[in-house]
Parts: sequence; C-alpha cells; structure tokens
Amino acid sequence: MAQLWGGRFTKDTNALFKELGDSIHFDHRLWREDIEGSRVHARMLGRQGILSEEETTRIEEGLDSIYHDIEAGKLSITTDVEDIHSFVEAELIRRIGDDGKRLHTGRSRNDQVALDMRLWTRNETDEIRHHLLHLEEVILGIMQENVTTYMPGFTHLQKAQPVTLAHHFGAYFEMFRRDITRLADTRKRMNESPLGAGALAGTTYPLDREYTAKELGFDRPCANSMDAVSDRDYLVEFLNDLALIQLHLSRLSEEIIIWNSDEYRFVELDDAYSTGSSIMPQKKNPDVAELIRGKTGRVYGDLMSLLTVMKGIPLAYDKDMQEDKEPAFDAADTVAGCIQLMAGMIESMKFNRDVMEASAKHGFTNATDAADYLVGKGIPFRDAHGIIGQLVLYCIKEKKSLDMLTLDEFHEFSPAFDRDVYDAISLRTCVEKRNTIGAPGKEAMRQEIEEAKNWLTEEIKR
Ligand code: ARG
Repeated sequence: MAQLWGGRFTKDTNALFKELGDSIHFDHRLWREDIEGSRVHARMLGRQGILSEEETTRIEEGLDSIYHDIEAGKLSITTDVEDIHSFVEAELIRRIGDDGKRLHTGRSRNDQVALDMRLWTRNETDEIRHHLLHLEEVILGIMQENVTTYMPGFTHLQKAQPVTLAHHFGAYFEMFRRDITRLADTRKRMNESPLGAGALAGTTYPLDREYTAKELGFDRPCANSMDAVSDRDYLVEFLNDLALIQLHLSRLSEEIIIWNSDEYRFVELDDAYSTGSSIMPQKKNPDVAELIRGKTGRVYGDLMSLLTVMKGIPLAYDKDMQEDKEPAFDAADTVAGCIQLMAGMIESMKFNRDVMEASAKHGFTNATDAADYLVGKGIPFRDAHGIIGQLVLYCIKEKKSLDMLTLDEFHEFSPAFDRDVYDAISLRTCVEKRNTIGAPGKEAMRQEIEEAKNWLTEEIKR
C-alpha cells in the first residue's frame, strides 16, 4: 500500500528502513483511540462547515463500520502500511471513496498520534487503578484477619520489635494507596487535548478545539500547539508511576520469597502460584514472586528508554518520538499483569501464624520493652539498655528467651526486676501497648483499618 505522503517522492523507501521505520507492528493497538479521535475530528469539521453534512455523515459511518468490524474480528489490521493512522485512513477511503480523503483536513499525524497516545494513557491509568484497587481489597482483607497475628518486625533483616501481620501489610496498603493517588495526579495533569495543533503550528481552518477536547473527555485543549505535538511528559510521569508500583510489588515479592523459605516458613504459597524443580522433587519455588521482582528491571528500563529518547529532541515532532510506544505498552502490560498476579498470590497464600509468633518470641524482640520496664522502675534508659544487653548475652549463652528466665536470674542483673516483668515483656503486651497513631497495637490498628476501609470504599465508588 502506498504511503500517505508519496506525492513528492520518485523512489521507493529503502526496504530495511521501511521495516525498521514502520510502527504498525506495535501501534496497531491504538486502533480504538485512532478511530475515536477521527470521528470527533470529522464531526467538528462538519459543525464548522469545513465539510458538508453528507461528507461528515459518510465519514462517521465509515469509521463506525471499521470500528465494529475490527472489534468483531471481521477486519484484521494488515501490516503493509506505515502505521495505524495510515491503515484507518486507507480503509476508510476503500469503503466510502473520495469523501474519506477529506478526513485529514486541518489535521496532521503529529497531533493525531499525540491524541492517540494521550487517550491510550488515560485509559491505562484507569485500568491500572482498577487492578490496584482490587489489590488493596485483598490487602485490607489480610489486615482485618490478622490484627493479633504477632510476628517479628525487622530492621537490617534482623528481628527488631514485634509487630502484627496486619501492621506489616498496612505498610503496603499505604504504598499502593500513594500509587493510586499518584496515577490520579498524572491523569489530571495530562487531560488536555492536542487535537487541532496540526503539524506544529495550528491550522488556518476554523477548527473548534474546545469542542473536540470536550467530546473526547479532556478538560481543555493544550495551550500551545508546538508543545501539544512534542510533549511526552505525561507518558514519562505515567511510566514513573508504573516504576514505583513495580518497586512496591518487588519489595513485597522479596519478603514473600524470604517468608516462604524453609528457614522462615512464615507463609506457604498456593500450588497455583509456585513451581517445582525438574530434578529436585521436594522443591516448591516462589517463581511468581521472583518473576515480579525480575520484571521490575524491565519496567525501570522502559522508563529510562523513554527519558533518554526524549532528552535531546528539538521542537516540535521528530521521528524519535515514535520510540515512545513500545516501552509504554510494555510497561503498562507488565505492571497490569504483575499487580493481578500479586493479588492472586497473596490472597491464596497460607500464613503460618504459630511460626510467626514463635519467631517473634525467640528473637529478643521484647528487649526494648524490657529496657522500658526498668525505666519505669526508676533506672535511667542508658543504664537499662546496658543491663538488658547483658541479659540478652546471658540468654544467648543459655539458649533461652527473656521470658524464660527465673526471677532469681533477673535479679542477678538488677534488683529492680519484679514479678510484673513477665507481663511487661510478653509478646502480647509489647504489641498491644503500642497504640500511637500508626503503631501495631490493636486500638491503633483498628483505627488504621477503619480509615483505610473508608478510603477504599470511596475510591471504588468514584
Ligand atoms: N508513527 C508515528 C509515531 O508514532 C506517527 C506520526 C508520524 N508523523 C510524522 N511526521 N512522521 O510517532
């Protein structure tokens, strides 16, 4: 099929360049956005008297029929054309004849592709948001069921202080909540229409850019036509949002891999979300979590590609910008898949609550509380810290936990210890006394969950 711009050329395009330069192989997925944009453009041309009513109707009907035929699988997008814009226009002309040649009046592929990508990105922000909301529901469910599931909290991957599983997952709830609001920010800022910017300098036709912007669900037309065709900031922002989502998924994956190891056994993965080994029959590997962690590199790569593509391009459109699509598509597909897999994996995962609790008990996670206990008995914190430090050393030697010591043993380190020490350093007390905002105690957690639930319910309604 001939190119849209063949008029001034006397020779065919170099075959290898054509292969490398055509974007139809990947931009075919923009067919919905492309037809929708064209439909609104044609309607506007009709309203402005630039096209006659009959021409407008024929174009709109032609575009509708193409849309429905592709949707129904009756028309397949061929790859003998340069890009999706050329495909739709050629197909329109094939169907309705010369009127189809009027569609591109007052438009360039530069504002056309800019529009298509914005529409696509806007849809994708909604899609990713939808998956994240589901993930948040799953996380909230885990939180609600595990307010008294005690486990060690870690720093430096060393047992630090006891927390609960609800508290641990609450941290991820917050990360994904920020991701959801970040997507909303991106969506809001990008919601301006480039249509009508032309190649770069607008057009002499009396286009109604307000009308097309409104019809396509944008808040307003882009203010500057050169910026409209050359801006991909919104796409960088979107890929950055995706990179952060993936970062959060990756951290959770890493924890699941650790928790699923034989040394920890905090969780057991469902068979549907793990794999075996071809040689070692005993193995059940956390491949899904590993794959999500691995895919993170790829999503960061997509963001870096786009940033690098954009960094040296003079205004306005340059062909380099065609390279925005593959990284964007790849990142969106990858992240959408990973969010859904994560939701399925953690929803079906079994938590070994006893193992978690035993691990919290045996890691001196109550040492801070033991020191605080002595402070309550009038000993300065620095001295208390030293006394408990010596006690821990003694316990390690004796292979005991703090609560296993007799009162006599306690007294060898300080006379300030009393019978009430056992209650003060019990796992339960250590967690339940922590009730400042955001802490793991039951009361604080109840409030955190309540607030999270209300927020999520409102977000789902929006
Ligand atoms: N396939 C092109 C892209 O994705 C469409 C725009 C072409 N415009 C042009 N002036 N060559 O960027």
